[in-house]
Amino acid sequence: MPRLFTALEIPAEIGQSLSMLRGGLPGARWIDPENYHLTLRFIGDIDDVLAHEIALLLDKVKRKPFDLRFDGLSAFGGRRPRAVIAAVQPITPLIELQAELDRLLRRVGLEPEGRKFTPHVTLARLRDSSSLQVADYLSARGPFRIEPFAVSRFVLFSSRASVGGGPYVVEAAYPLAA
Ligand code: 2AM
Repeated sequence: MPRLFTALEIPAEIGQSLSMLRGGLPGARWIDPENYHLTLRFIGDIDDVLAHEIALLLDKVKRKPFDLRFDGLSAFGGRRPRAVIAAVQPITPLIELQAELDRLLRRVGLEPEGRKFTPHVTLARLRDSSSLQVADYLSARGPFRIEPFAVSRFVLFSSRASVGGGPYVVEAAYPLAA
């Protein structure tokens, strides 16, 4: 059963810049740069028939390319931090793309997205880092300056069946046409 999600890829040179932010936080499991991505809509473990239906459905999306900018480093989880992320500016074309994917995927019976869309690239997952350690890391590393990047397609990624995580495989790609 494939585990799928829709996402934006991160260009290699941007991944390289983001990877400079690795290190200096005890308890962090840093994501390999080739696995960086921006999740649009998580799908989860589904059967092959539905996966095929979804892959076709996503062809309906007709949107224009756009540029994305980073918005600083942050952490998810508050007092029990679970991830370090590079926040991405929530510009209208990105929000609209995510909302359209959510609508389409609910139409084929998927549950509504459980969490609010906060565009980001996860840099590390945290196990035993304290909020103080995370705050120290964020103040030592931020602010960071990474150039904007162009988005010209979104993809359907599969992760390792059942367990999740990378390496992620592009199952289908959907161009954003000017
Ligand atoms: P994250 O990086 O913000 O944790 C592939 O597993 C991607 O889907 C991950 O990047 C993860 O986002 C996201 N993801 C995993 N489980 C999810 C869930 N239950 N709901 C929403 N997104 C999820």
